[in-house]
Amino acid sequence: MRHPDDPHLSIGDFRTLSGLLQTACGQDLAPEMRATVERKLRDRLLILGLESFAEYFRLLRADPKARDELLTAIELISTHETYFFREEYQLRAFSDEVVPLLQPAAQLRKRFSIWSAGCSTGEEVYSIAAILQESNPSPNVPFRVLGSDISKGCLAHARRGVYAQAAMRATSIERTQRWFDQTNAGWMVKSSLRSMCQFGHVNLLDGERIASVGTVDVIFCRNVLIYFNDRTRREVIEHFYDRLVPGGVLFLGHAESLLNVSTDFELLHLRRDLAYRKPLSATDDPSVNLMGAGAVADPLRGSTIRSRSQSDEPMRQNKRVSS
Ligand SMILES: C[S@@+](CC[C@H](N)C(=O)[O-])C[C@H]1O[C@@H](n2cnc3c(N)ncnc32)[C@H](O)[C@@H]1O
Repeated sequence: MRHPDDPHLSIGDFRTLSGLLQTACGQDLAPEMRATVERKLRDRLLILGLESFAEYFRLLRADPKARDELLTAIELISTHETYFFREEYQLRAFSDEVVPLLQPAAQLRKRFSIWSAGCSTGEEVYSIAAILQESNPSPNVPFRVLGSDISKGCLAHARRGVYAQAAMRATSIERTQRWFDQTNAGWMVKSSLRSMCQFGHVNLLDGERIASVGTVDVIFCRNVLIYFNDRTRREVIEHFYDRLVPGGVLFLGHAESLLNVSTDFELLHLRRDLAYRKPLSATDDPSVNLMGAGAVADPLRGSTIRSRSQSDEPMRQNKRVSS
């Protein structure tokens, strides 16, 4: 319940906040979210000893504290909803169809990197790692899963790797036994999964930061783009395109598509899902010779994926992403 003396987020304040958020992280606040946003930020104002949102906006615009406070505001306002094995059919499509498709080229490159962009508290990252291990991929390909988010609080949780029961609502008993240890603090992800995963702080609007991810074979960006407007969505999709190896695959959430975004991605029709693929021809790397030595057959298209430089090692790339 709102007390009459509590700070009030007027329509004007809400517009100001929407503008700040849009610029900082691309998220669009729908007008009907005003009461929720007011509630979510009210306690923050009390903690800071501020009496009005006008004062809070002055703080958000002030240097050098502004950046940290803006991240806190984004963290408080954003939706971080996630759980293990969410939209499992998509994870299956990834392990059963996309991994075999990309594995031969990855084997030559001696790396297979998956990026979960907007991973929240990490459940998606560990689910990808688990499903990969369950599918028994080639032992010669070192798989790495990188999770990133704009929320440092979420990333700290992801690195801790300990979860409440609610996060396990789509996890079978078999999987719970195989991938988690029960502790007093909650369900702890086993080290066999943790050793495959890394986490880093990346704002999807920050091109330089995104470039630090290096190149990856597969990107999952699920239930993130729904909060962006068309222009931001297009920008982010272009960054993803640049990060993928030729032939690399992008998975979006079930409510998201590239329908209104014109991109160079090709549609990839999987048995129970639709994904987006960077064309194999999309490279200006002069070392690429589609029929040359090191080229491998691409079963879906009958064309070829050639290995990229082995100096593109995943761990080096991933280590460039820090918190
Ligand atoms: C609803 S969660 C999705 C989690 C997971 N991908 C899933 O589908 O279960 C959305 C996440 O996107 C993150 N996010 C929102 N805007 C972002 C941005 N500009 N850069 C990076 N992450 C962002 C939020 O912090 C939040 O944790």
